[in-house]
Amino acid sequence: MVTFTVSRVETAPIDGQKPGTSGLRKKVKVFVQPHYLQNFVQSTFYALSAEKVRGATLVVSGDGRYYSKDAIQIILKMAAANGVRRVWVGQNGLLSTPAVSAVIRERTGHDGARASGAFILTASHNPGGPHEDFGIKYNMENGGPAPEGITDKIYENTKTIKEYLIAEDLPNVDITTLGVTSFTGPEEPFDVEVFDSAVDYVKLMKSIFDFQLISKLLSCPKFSFCYDALHGVAGAYAKRIFVEELGANEGFLLNCTPKEDFGGGHPDPNLTYAKELVARMGLGKSAPENEPPEFGAAADGDADRNMILGKRFFVTPSDSVAIIAANAVEAIPYFSGGLKGVARSMPTSAALDVVAQHLNLKFFEVPTGWKFFGNLMDAGLCSVCGEESFGTGSDHIREKDGIWAVLAWLSILAYKNKENLSGEKLVSVEDIVRQHWVTYGRHYYTRYDYENVDSGAAKELMGYLVQLQSSLSEVNQIVKGVCPDASNVVHADEFEYKDPVDGSISKHQGIRYLFEDGSRLVFRLSGTGSEGATIRLYIEQYEKDPAKTGRDSQEALAPLVEVALKLSKMQEFTGRSAPTVIT
Ligand code: G6P
Ligand code: ZN
Repeated sequence: MVTFTVSRVETAPIDGQKPGTSGLRKKVKVFVQPHYLQNFVQSTFYALSAEKVRGATLVVSGDGRYYSKDAIQIILKMAAANGVRRVWVGQNGLLSTPAVSAVIRERTGHDGARASGAFILTASHNPGGPHEDFGIKYNMENGGPAPEGITDKIYENTKTIKEYLIAEDLPNVDITTLGVTSFTGPEEPFDVEVFDSAVDYVKLMKSIFDFQLISKLLSCPKFSFCYDALHGVAGAYAKRIFVEELGANEGFLLNCTPKEDFGGGHPDPNLTYAKELVARMGLGKSAPENEPPEFGAAADGDADRNMILGKRFFVTPSDSVAIIAANAVEAIPYFSGGLKGVARSMPTSAALDVVAQHLNLKFFEVPTGWKFFGNLMDAGLCSVCGEESFGTGSDHIREKDGIWAVLAWLSILAYKNKENLSGEKLVSVEDIVRQHWVTYGRHYYTRYDYENVDSGAAKELMGYLVQLQSSLSEVNQIVKGVCPDASNVVHADEFEYKDPVDGSISKHQGIRYLFEDGSRLVFRLSGTGSEGATIRLYIEQYEKDPAKTGRDSQEALAPLVEVALKLSKMQEFTGRSAPTVIT
C-alpha cells in the first residue's frame, strides 16, 4: 500500500474568496493561480468542526466542467493531509448537484460509512472552458448548501490563512475506474472510492415515482420526448433513467454527453439558451423540420435547474411548480399521503398560492434562494417548492432537482393518459396547463432583466422605488396616468422574511407593488450577476375568468409593463430603452 506524508505549505490570503450561497465562482484563470483553490479548501476545513474533517467521509465531484479533474486531485491530496478518512468520487468526477445531495443523505458505503459533507465543483448554469467559469461549494450533512454561518467562517479564514496541509506525494487517483484505492498515512489510513455517479440517485427516484406507469407512456407510439442536457452532467442521468430504466428511445436525448466546455454553449435551460430544443419544440423563429415532440425539457450544467415545454408551448416555472403541487398526491406515489406544505420564492408568481388555498395546504413565501426552502423541509413544513428562476424540487433532497422535475411532469402526463394510451390523442402538456388555468385562474407572468447596469444607477432606482412607496396616492396617479383601467395599488413594501424555523430575519429582499386584483410588480437586484448590477423586473397579472386565460402573455401584460417602466423611471435611471433578456 502506498504511504503518503503531510506537507505544510506556506501561503498568504488571496482577495475575493467570499463564497455566495452557491459557493465561490470565478474564471478558471483565477482558480489556477498558485494556492487559490488550496487556500479555499483549507479555509473550508478550518471552518468545519473537527469531527466533520478528521476521520470523516466526504464526497467530491461536480458537473465535469473544465478544471474539475485537476481540482479533484488537489482536494484528494488535501483531504488526506487533513485527516479525512475517505473520499467518495463519482466516476469521472461527475455528480449532479441533486445527486450529491442524494448521496449525502442516502448512501451507505460497503463499510457502513456515511458522508458528512461534500465539495461540489460547479458554476451551475455559467459557461465552462479554459476562459470561462469554475466554482466550488460545500454542502453539509443534511445534503444542503453550507449555511451563512459556515460560509462567513470560510471567508474569514481565507483572509488570515498562513498555511495549508497537503499530501504532495499522494499519487493521482484514477477516477475513471470504479473501485477503492487505499493509502497509508502518518496517522490514519485514507481511501478513495470511485463509485457509480447515478446508482444512488436512480434508486431514490425509483422510490419516489411510479417507473412502470411512466415507462408505459414513454413506450406509447403517440408519445415523443426531447431531453436537452445542454452538454451538462444531466446527460449522464438522462441516459440511465430515461433510456435504461424507463425504456425511452435514445433518440429522445439531445446533447446528453457531458462536455468540459458544454459544447461552447451557455448551459442554462431557458428559451434564450436552449436554442436547439426550443427550435425542435416548434418555439423557434422558423418552423421546425419535423413535427415537434409532445414533451420537451432541459437542464443546466449541474442539473439542478429545469425547463418544461410542450409541443409549441412554454410552461413558466411558476406555473410548473403550481401544477406539480396540484397533481402530486394523485400522480406521484411519494406524495400519496398528502403534502406537508408548499413554498415559493417571493418573485415567483402566485399560481402556487391559489393551489395551496384550494387544497388547504400550508404555504410559505420565502426570499430568493434555495436555502430558505431547506429550513422548512428540515422542519417537516414543506414538500414541494419552486422558483421562477427555473428551479423546482421537493423534500427528497435539499437542492433543487432538474431530473426530478421532469419525472414529476412525466408522472402527471402518464397519470392523465392512463386510460388514454390507445385513444386517438394524448392529453398534452398544453391541455394540462390550460385546464389548470381554467380551474385556478391564470397568472400571466414575465421577467425583464437589465444586465450589467451601472451599480450606482441601479441603487438609485431601487431607492427611488422605496421612497415612492410612502405615498400610494402618488403611485396610483402614475399608474392611472399610464393605464386608466388598471386596478389600484393597495400595498407596497420591501419584502422582509422571518424564518419560521430559526427566527432569523432577512431584509431588503425586493420591492413589491401589490394591486387590488392580485397583480404584482416586483423589482430586485440579482444576487448572482457577475458584472455591474442586474435589475430584475417581475410582472404578474392574475386572471380568474376562464374565458380570458388563453391570451398571449406578452400581449396581456403590455399595459402593466408600461406601468412598471414609468413607475420605476427605468430608462431615466439606467439609460436603457429595452431589457437585455425577457423570460
Ligand atoms: C441561484 C439560486 C436560486 C435563485 C437564483 C436567483 O440559482 O440557486 O435559488 O433563485 O440563483 O438568482 P438571482 O440572479 O435572481 O439573484
Ligand atoms: Zn445549477
